[in-house]
Amino acid sequence: MSDFQYIRVEWDGELAMVVIDRAEKLNALNAEVVRELGDVFRDLKDDDDVLGVILTGAGEKAFVAGADIGELAQLTPLTGMTVSREGQRIFTDIERFPKPVLAAIGGYALGGGCELALACHLRVASENARFGLPEVGLGTIPGYGGTMRLARVVGFGLAVEMILTGAMVDAERAERIGLVSAVYPQAALLDQAKTFMRGITKNGPVAVRMALESIYLAQNSAPADAASFESALFGLLASTADMKEGMTAFLEKRKAAFKGE
Ligand code: COA
Repeated sequence: MSDFQYIRVEWDGELAMVVIDRAEKLNALNAEVVRELGDVFRDLKDDDDVLGVILTGAGEKAFVAGADIGELAQLTPLTGMTVSREGQRIFTDIERFPKPVLAAIGGYALGGGCELALACHLRVASENARFGLPEVGLGTIPGYGGTMRLARVVGFGLAVEMILTGAMVDAERAERIGLVSAVYPQAALLDQAKTFMRGITKNGPVAVRMALESIYLAQNSAPADAASFESALFGLLASTADMKEGMTAFLEKRKAAFKGE
């Protein structure tokens, strides 16, 4: 594992907890934080002991309060394009991470923070969470995939509303519109996030991975290609020890013991 200035990694069994730790700036994403995020997910990708990742922010006030506005203020047209492309690439690597990634959102998830949460496969929040894409109020637009991903999660109309108004959405509304799967009291957020993830990691790891492959490939493919890919993965899983174990365990009325093979 690389050394990081702004990222801490903690392990709890099969789960890796990635904590963005720049609390004095509400975990705002400066260039170094973004680079380290790319590095940590690259490191964790090949770690066979990790079956899932929980991404969260240090402190109680924010998950991530956006891209670092001090840095954004210095951008030129050319560096702006480069920064956006690099952030998009790293966020897409998170989206295509082969094991489930859950964002545990305590406090503000604004701008790049909201986009980061959207790049994760799943989101849960604390009661004080606030979501928003306030970029238009700063004279810019979301540049880390937000104009694409938000509509996939909450639907086109609400995405247009949130991006054009820049208004914040509280935790209760976020749950109602499907932006998060669940809302918990702040003190219980991380424990509940782990319990949530263990509802996934108890399943066959190869199947979970192939499900992610199929779901995310379908986002960028013609329907016929997505269907064909799904069938190929469905067939491939019939060759795994995990599928035999899962089905035998059901028929024998016992709990499956998956090995990830
Ligand atoms: N970039 C850089 N610094 C940020 C930041 C960001 N996106 N968000 C917060 N900070 C910094 C503040 O400048 C402040 O630093 P300082 O103590 O050195 O002055 C520190 O984090 C604490 O933030 P503060 O504004 O004092 O907290 P608050 O509770 O009064 O307000 C917010 C919280 C989230 C409402 C407010 O910080 C905010 O609006 N942040 C920007 C959100 C945004 O527009 N994000 C999208 C960027 S594209």
